[in-house]
Amino acid sequence: MTEISALKAGLIADIAAADTLEALETLRVGAMGKNGVVTGLLKTLGPMSPEERLEKGPPIQDLRESVTAALAEKKAALEQAALDAKLAAETIDMTLPADIGPQGSVHPVSQVMDELAEIFADLGFSVATGPEIEDDWHNFTALNIPETHPARAMHDTFYFPDAEDGKKMLLRTHTSPVQIRTMMNGEPPIRIIAPGRVYRSDSDATHTPMFHQIEGLVIDKGITLGHLKWTLETFLKAFFERDDIVLRLRPSYFPFTEPSVEVDVGYTLINGQRVIGGDGDAPGGGWLEVLGSGMVNRRVIEACGLDPDEWQGFAFGTGVDRLAMLKYGMNDLRAFFDGDLRWLKHYGFMGLDVPTLSGGVGA
Ligand code: DAH
Repeated sequence: MTEISALKAGLIADIAAADTLEALETLRVGAMGKNGVVTGLLKTLGPMSPEERLEKGPPIQDLRESVTAALAEKKAALEQAALDAKLAAETIDMTLPADIGPQGSVHPVSQVMDELAEIFADLGFSVATGPEIEDDWHNFTALNIPETHPARAMHDTFYFPDAEDGKKMLLRTHTSPVQIRTMMNGEPPIRIIAPGRVYRSDSDATHTPMFHQIEGLVIDKGITLGHLKWTLETFLKAFFERDDIVLRLRPSYFPFTEPSVEVDVGYTLINGQRVIGGDGDAPGGGWLEVLGSGMVNRRVIEACGLDPDEWQGFAFGTGVDRLAMLKYGMNDLRAFFDGDLRWLKHYGFMGLDVPTLSGGVGA
């Protein structure tokens, strides 16, 4: 073996044995650095005669190439090993339960409002809103409740001190003023629902000074009580997610509708619990009032500047909190607004497992 091939074998063996990047770097400097052995041999080629260089050059060049290649290969291997070791040390155990921290939940009122908006969107209704601080014209007068009307007294209204311009401001007692605002600001045909907060000076297990209502209004040509009944039946079936919803329409009185009906749904007693569904007149059954409604009074249509001979419609209104209580089995309305986290944890809905309306409308 020549001196050069012995040197090559030795260097390559050393490089193969290097077990850290630092050790490899020391070997590189010893061979290829400014004063390295290979560099020294390369320098001897310069002063040689062409003939000598032709003879001695190739083994030296081969030495340089082999050592350079061995260094590069070993460097890559050591770097890969370092990376592998790091990855192994920093693995994440994906089977451990994640710490998701405290989580909020959707309040049953918000949940039910979303469900209602979804159901009525399927029926072509859009959502309308109006101010919670109203004037008595929108809240009462335009709805055919004149100043002397006993219905004003029945509403337990929160009034603001008299304003200088003589306008009587109040906290709206129902969502019905949104009917007026919608008719005055838009053109028929109209199909809206108006969910929102309403206020009455009242407080017990089923009444709170603030609660939620949803109003519905349809104004079009040739609208009849039949359209009203179909709409309410379709809505209640989708909302309670049952096909066996039976409605009972009872004649009633609201100043803003004529004729007016109150709508009951049949329930069945199951283990002492009222479960919505079934014929209320069947043994063990009964009726629960869920809605007020009727054909929009022509005086209301007129007050909004429309011709009641051309445009007719129906309206309905109901309590959102009450619907939530019936659907999700809660019995104290006050708990809705206590902000008790334990209650919210129990009755609230998680963003990801909110029950969807299984059937949708018309299923
Ligand atoms: N505004 C009524 C209330 O607060 C509810 C209501 C009844 C609304 C009949 C309507 C309706 O639109 O037609 O008691």
